[in-house]
Amino acid sequence: MPFVKVAALVDVPAGSMMEVHHGEARIAVCNIEGQLHAIDGVCPHRQGPLAHGALHGTMVVCPWHAWEFDCVTGQNDYDPRLVQRKYSVKAEDGHILVDLD
Ligand code: FES
Repeated sequence: MPFVKVAALVDVPAGSMMEVHHGEARIAVCNIEGQLHAIDGVCPHRQGPLAHGALHGTMVVCPWHAWEFDCVTGQNDYDPRLVQRKYSVKAEDGHILVDLD
């Protein structure tokens, strides 16, 4: 599948994140110092919405029980075996596009 438009770039300024949906996918898009990253937005603990939590540096904090995942690597801070799927993401013409392959 090609890259798909999921949001306007202006809606995810540096230091913020947003949950985007496409089909069944829920994705957390993070803007870390102007660089976009995207990971699976469903927390593996109890399916909490990761992008509704806080973004501290590169770390996404789940709003339900505070599990943390690095938005750059997808890795959990406590158990490195827990890794969220990463998505390729880019900005183009004022839009954020995610590769849903
Ligand atoms: S659902 Fe995310 S930490 Fe529990």
